[in-house]
Amino acid sequence: MFIEWRPNRPSNQSLHQQIVDWMKQQITRGEWPVATKLPSQRSLADSFGVNRSTIITAIDELIADGLLETKVGSGTFVSNNTWNVLVSSKQPDWKNYVRNGLHEPNLKTIQDINQYETDTAIIRLGTGELSPSLLPTKKIEKTLQSTSFDAHSLGYSEPKGDKRLRQCISVYLETKGVNASPSSLMIVSGGLQALQLISVGLLQKGSMVLHESPSYLNSVHPFQSAGMHLVGLSKQGRESIPTQIKRINGRKKASLFYTVPTFNNPTNTTWTKEERLNLLSICKKDQIPIIEDDVYSDLWFEKEPPLPIKSLDTDGLVLHIGSMSKTLSPGLRIGWIAGPITVIERLADIKMQMDYGSSALSQHLVAEWLASDQYSKHLEWLRYKLIVRRDFTLTLLNQYFKGLAEWQIPQGGFYIWLKLCKPIVNPNLFKQALKENILLNPGYIYEPNNNTHLRLSYSYASEEQLAYGIQTLSKIIRRLI
Ligand SMILES: Cc1ncc(COP(=O)(O)O)c(C=O)c1O
Repeated sequence: MFIEWRPNRPSNQSLHQQIVDWMKQQITRGEWPVATKLPSQRSLADSFGVNRSTIITAIDELIADGLLETKVGSGTFVSNNTWNVLVSSKQPDWKNYVRNGLHEPNLKTIQDINQYETDTAIIRLGTGELSPSLLPTKKIEKTLQSTSFDAHSLGYSEPKGDKRLRQCISVYLETKGVNASPSSLMIVSGGLQALQLISVGLLQKGSMVLHESPSYLNSVHPFQSAGMHLVGLSKQGRESIPTQIKRINGRKKASLFYTVPTFNNPTNTTWTKEERLNLLSICKKDQIPIIEDDVYSDLWFEKEPPLPIKSLDTDGLVLHIGSMSKTLSPGLRIGWIAGPITVIERLADIKMQMDYGSSALSQHLVAEWLASDQYSKHLEWLRYKLIVRRDFTLTLLNQYFKGLAEWQIPQGGFYIWLKLCKPIVNPNLFKQALKENILLNPGYIYEPNNNTHLRLSYSYASEEQLAYGIQTLSKIIRRLI
């Protein structure tokens, strides 16, 4: 349970009374239904910025009022609420509903990350997002001011999304060697929605989804929630990924292989052209579709990466996912899928049932940017900015992490997959860093049991924050080692 409320220190009311009143309100409004477990006294004290004794006094008072109860060894729970008493009717057992909902919850660390990301005092050393200073806000404002809309373009769009935008994406994909006609393309609300649509639209419960591990797929749960069984394959192992696919698929039919082959999240590795061809060849032989998640490939630095796997695909084997989130703005929520028309029509039909299409305004804006040279000009500027940030971060790592960790020089994208010399990446390190206002993306959210890696990102924090954050992190790590 995350608590955003804080007592008001300058108020005339005592801190403990403010806490009692606020907790009563939570209970009587039904936001904390009966049986809700309260956070520990220590974490309440941390969240409210008060002494533990203040929390104990407040809780004792609510226990005396009959609103809370303490179960030895299990914690403090809401035992009653005045609303219940007044109308003598019971609320539904929301806890049970929440526990049994079909979708998997986020990992606890990811819930924490999502929460702390809203705190402006926090230094976000692992955030996979463009810094506000890298978003072309003024230019976007200008585009919106200078374009006109007709009434149709502001209505629900057609199932595959705005036609003009699909035409623009088709032309844009041609520059990457991908031939995808507008009718073989659909617009989605970000790459994540593409994965959700694929999981519920194409696969059966119990299907085996192969993916490269560590993986973005372990940090979100579209396939797991739809009942799929994930199997991670390592690129570092003795066997190549195509060999592993062949071996595993020989035992049980795999439903698909998911990969981020260019500037991977979190490792930032990029598959060579030969590796792409080998993968395509084995997947073609074994009839295993490939999901190519290509949301970072525009962010190359010194040298363009190999063309997408989709550009090598002559058999309709690859579903190719793109997005504007990592280059233009994640808040627009615009991505796309390119694939065989029958598949796209199926996914578009499901999308219509889910949300009736992505934001018309965002689609219009992205079409404007792609149709003019604005997007490519923005990319040139962005690449330059990211190179400067990468180099700055590498200098800091050389200064503070020599002997503590190993890393590769990123050729594009956002991330440095930092390998610590000791296996100390665990919830304790996460917590210790938070105490110093540093938010980390630990390796175990991308690969279960990974206790050696951190995903660092040079895309979000300011230079000042990177400098302070990386130096402080090195001190915390030295202390723990
Ligand atoms: C590999 C990968 N795919 C998809 C996404 C989701 O992006 P979007 O904002 O387009 O949903 C992310 C975001 O972190 C990502 O790293």
